[in-house]
This record gives sequence, structure tokens and C-alpha cells, in this order.
Amino acid sequence: MIGESQMSEQSNIESILTESRVFEPPQSFNERIGGAYIPSLEAYEELYRRSIDSPNDFWSEVADELDWFEKWNTVCSSGFPDVKWFEGGKTNLCHNCVDRQINMGHGDDIAIIWEGEPYDGAPEIKKLTYSDLHAEVCKCANALKELGVKKGDVVTIYMGMVPELAIAVLACARIGAPHSVIFGGFSSQAIADRVEDAKSTIVITCDGSWRRGSVVPLKDNVDAATQFTELIDTVLVLKRCENDINWQDGRDVWWHDICDRQDEDCQCESMDAEDMLFLLYTSGSTGKPKGIMHTTGGYMVYTYLTSKWVFNLIPGKDHVYWCTADVGWITGHSYIIYGLLPNRVPTLMYEGAPNFPDAARFWDIVERHNVTQFYTAPTAIRAFMKWGDEHPNKHDLSSLKVLGTVGEPINPEAWMWYRKVIGNSECPIVDTWWQTETGGHMLTPLPGATPTTPGSCTRPFFGIDAAVVDDDGNEVGENEGGLLVVRQSWPSTLRGVFGDRDRFIETYFSRVEDMYLAGDSARKDERGNFWIMGRIDDVINVSGHRLGTMEVESSLVSHESVVEAAVVGVPHEIKGTGIAAFCTLASGIEPSDVLKDALRKHVGEEIGAIAKPDILKFTDALPKTRSGKIMRRLLRDVAAGTDSNQDVTTLEDFTVLAKLRDEE
Ligand code: PRX
Repeated sequence: MIGESQMSEQSNIESILTESRVFEPPQSFNERIGGAYIPSLEAYEELYRRSIDSPNDFWSEVADELDWFEKWNTVCSSGFPDVKWFEGGKTNLCHNCVDRQINMGHGDDIAIIWEGEPYDGAPEIKKLTYSDLHAEVCKCANALKELGVKKGDVVTIYMGMVPELAIAVLACARIGAPHSVIFGGFSSQAIADRVEDAKSTIVITCDGSWRRGSVVPLKDNVDAATQFTELIDTVLVLKRCENDINWQDGRDVWWHDICDRQDEDCQCESMDAEDMLFLLYTSGSTGKPKGIMHTTGGYMVYTYLTSKWVFNLIPGKDHVYWCTADVGWITGHSYIIYGLLPNRVPTLMYEGAPNFPDAARFWDIVERHNVTQFYTAPTAIRAFMKWGDEHPNKHDLSSLKVLGTVGEPINPEAWMWYRKVIGNSECPIVDTWWQTETGGHMLTPLPGATPTTPGSCTRPFFGIDAAVVDDDGNEVGENEGGLLVVRQSWPSTLRGVFGDRDRFIETYFSRVEDMYLAGDSARKDERGNFWIMGRIDDVINVSGHRLGTMEVESSLVSHESVVEAAVVGVPHEIKGTGIAAFCTLASGIEPSDVLKDALRKHVGEEIGAIAKPDILKFTDALPKTRSGKIMRRLLRDVAAGTDSNQDVTTLEDFTVLAKLRDEE
């Protein structure tokens, strides 16, 4: 069991199944936000119909709000799986994030507000205007060119949450070099795997990054990664923490040495709408993370519109938007950088932990910067609840107008707390369901329009033809569980799994014909609201971070002591889902706490700290069917300390289960 007051998965599902409270958008919302874009459910429904019936008209009007060097010929020219949007169009997303704002006379507006973690009476704050950002991005882009990066080369980025991370991302977009950002919590092995898969030869990193007062040695991790791959020939290093690092002449280059002397102008590469913008690795049901490919035009249009309407961003109304995710995840790509900057509302980046120097840090930031839209994950909300109301209560949070959540199902208790304690019951909550693969929000309330119910991500965004179906693609009945699918492509649909077309087709487009299979199960209620029930594959969602159980299993069996491992998710009070691992040991190896620690450390080194099992059990054998398949549902029961009376008639050896239970 995890935690004292462990939330039972069963009770959460029950509370979601019985939840029926409805909250209309607060009356005051329209005035507080400065005008709701979609002011009523009727307005939503009318426009939604249009977006489904005439997607080309709908999306071309949106795309016209942005700059194109050459206009597209066809809005959507091809459906699943080889989706194509805005074919023939030429643009550059960095141009739309930065230059377009300057060209419209807003060069002095704030683009990025950054707050560092160290807190010495006051934090370090930087504010970059669009003109500042333009200069920095151009210098970085020119530096990348000097280092030999050309259009189409994949640039790996492994940095902390510093402004230069956004600058590096935008510089890549500017010169047409797809980036592959790796979350700073991943290990050197994970860096090497991704570098190899993407065939990337350059890594941008920092000496270190601040996390809860300590330095995460990012450069050391990159150095270690070079032991597993020979591809990396250039490492561009930003000085942030001034920690000691090793230096390899001829390979390592200081950011300040090369960027500072560059020209502050660098022309944007003209990109085809379907040119790759970035790769982002995410977990699936095999041991190997896959590189999700997103392209330029459709992703730009879709993230722009979802940002604008889901968060109701209005330039010139003193909005300050803060998404607490890391740029290493899709949420950071779409809703810290790419969707935000074209909307001309300052996007806030915070470097560090929510509880440094104390548990009120987030609320301190909200008050200091008058944050208006706040976007975070249920796991964080549950942690805040546990830390106590006194922390938010001592800060003035009255600037907040829209509250967002993402990454995993939110339990109604956390939803209610968020609404009342953080939002003072005045802020609509947008529970946004989407994925790395979808590029942007898919199911979500619109703050001025959609009545919300705790735990439901409500309705599809415009242009999203979502449904809950059976294996034949037929819609299931009201409130019946089924597969969540999308039946028509949308502009930011993933365009592939890098280097693995078979996996792309197999994962998303084979189980249900002609539809995008999300990998989640869901139900739709009598009001047309969607409820996400959980994953249908071996993916688990730990603190809103996606992990494949097979990834963790592969890592465990790569340790010399382990011959077989099975990993399952287990309900966890804060993380939502924790990781339970069952290992059988090689002959002659004795179980011990020291070995448990060593295995957890090993997984941390192989993947990253987020993958370390919360529960690790040694067992002589794993429960298997007579055909040799591991019976994971039984292990889930054992890990959770529950007994859901599952059918065990196919279990090969009953004593295995009895022994596992006895150890409780
Ligand atoms: O299971 C769903 C869950 O997170 C998965 C996608 O993970 P990832 O690609 O890492 O992207 C996370 C951030 C967009 C989904 O398949 N998920 C995401 N948002 C929600 C959610 N589950 C329930 N409610 C959500 N709002």
C-alpha cells in the first residue's frame, strides 16, 4: 500500500461514476476576463457543428489570422493515416511567435516572464519583450548554423526551465531544424536512446539546473550519454548553476561564447506546412519510447486556436498566463511556447519546484505576477491539498480567472478543492484531455460556455469528431465504456512515429478501421460529456507523466540480479498512479532491502527518477496463465491490497498468488 490515506482506485472510479454536480460558467466570467470568445453553450454548439460540417472553411479562417509566406492550396488534403493540412502553404512558426508581433507594432510587449528557483529574499526575474526574444533567438539560430546545423537536422535539447530553453526551441524552428526536447529528469541512457533514434549529433544543455535547492547535473548526464552513443559531436552548454563540469575541447561549446558574438538578425527559413517541426519521445506499450512527429502548419494553427479559446487569452488586457509544466513534455511545447506566443499574452516560465523554498511558492508567483490563467496537473493539485490551505490562503489569488488541468483524470475531490481554494469559486475549470500525439487540446470545456462537472473533460474542441466506440467502430450506448477514438483528422494530428511506420499504423490506426485510436477508454454521458476511464494499453500515468510498464520491466531485467519482472500501476494518493514492480531473482541472489534500493537506483539511471518503482517485491515466480502470459490484473490487486474477485481459473500455479498475498 502507498501512503497513509491511500485513495482507492475503486472509490475514485465510483465517485466519478456517481458525480453529477454541474457548474455553469460563473456569471462574472465574461466581465472578469474581458469578454468570453465563446460566450454560451449554444454558441459552442453552433460553431462546433460548423467546424465538423465545413472543416475547410472553419480552419482556413483560423489560419488566416496568422502569417503565411505563401498561402496553402488545400486546407485538408488527406485523412488518416497520412494526414496533410495546409498543403502548399509556406510559413515559419518562429516568425508567427516573434516577428509577427514585432511587425504589428508590439515589439515592446512582454513575451516571456521567467522566474528562477533560488530565493534569497527575492527571486531572480527576467522579462523578455518580443524584440528581446527576437534578438536572442536570432543569435542562437546563427550560432546553430555556425555549428553546422542545417534545415532538417534534428537538434536535441536537454535543459532546465530557463528562458534559453524557449530561445533554443524557437531558434530551431526558425532555421527549420526539428528539435527533440528531452525532459531534464531523464537519465543519460534515455538521452542516448533518443539521440540514436533521432540520429541527432548536437545536444544543447546547461551545466546544471536548479531543483528544490540542489543542482541537477545536466551536462554530466550528457557526458555520460556519450558513452552509450557515438553520435554526439557537439554539445552547446549554457552556464546556469556554475557547478563544476568536465569539458571536452572540440566538442563542447559555451552558449555565451558562441551566441553573444552572433548577429541579432537571422532570416526565417520558409517551411512547407508539412515540414517537421519537432519530434517528441513518449512512452507506448513496448519497451522503446517512440518519436512522435509534428509538422509546422497544422500544429501552428491548432495550438494557436486552442490556446486562445480554451484559456480565453486576450492581448492588451493584462493577462498573464502560467503553465507549470516543463517544456520537456508536450504541454510545455504547445501551451508554454508555440500556442502562447502567437496570442500575445505573456507566458510565464518557472524554473523550479512548487515547494521551494516553501509550499506557498506557486501562490507567491501567482500573486507577484498577477497570473490570470493558471494551468497545472492533478498530481500537483493533490500535493497542494495535502500541504494545506494555509499556503494559498496567505496569498492574494484574485487575479486568477481561468484554471486548467491536464495530464491525468482529476478526482472530483481535487477538482472541488481547486475550484474553491484556488479559484475562489469564481474561475471556470478547464479539464483538458489530450496527448503528445494530438498536439493540442481535444476534449475540454470552454471557460465561458461549457457547464462543467468534476472529473469530466466535457466536450470536443472545434473540429474534433470524438466518439466512444467498440472494436467495430460502432458508437456504444450512453454511459457505456468503450474505446476513445477520433473519426476525422485535425490539424495537429501526429504525422508519424519517427523511423517506424509500422508502429505508427499498428498503434493508432489498426484496431478500429479509419479512426485514430487514442489508447484511452472512456464513456459519454447523457449530456454529451466525455469521461476518461484510463488507458487500454500498458501505459501508466505517473504524476501526469506517461510511462510504459515494459520500459520499466526492460530496465529491471537489464540488472544482473533480475531474471523476470512485471510492472503494474497502483493507486497513489499524490501521483494518481504509482509503480509496483514484481521481480524474480537470478539463482543464488538473495532478496534484500539493499538490493531493492539498488534496483530502484538502476531504474533511475536507466530511465529517470520518475520511473523508480514505489513498491518493489521479490517473488519466486510471477502469476501466469497456462499459456505463459503474466496475469497483470492479479498483480494490480496484490499491489493495491485489494481483491476484486477476479477470475483465476486460468492461473497456472495458485500458490504463487497465495504467497504474494501472504507477504502483505
Ligand atoms: O491517458 C490520458 C492522460 O494522459 C495521456 C496522454 O499523455 P501524454 O501524451 O504524456 O500527454 C499528457 C499531456 C497532454 C492520455 O492518453 N490524460 C491527459 N489529459 C487527461 C488525461 N486523462 C484524463 N483527463 C485528462 N484531462
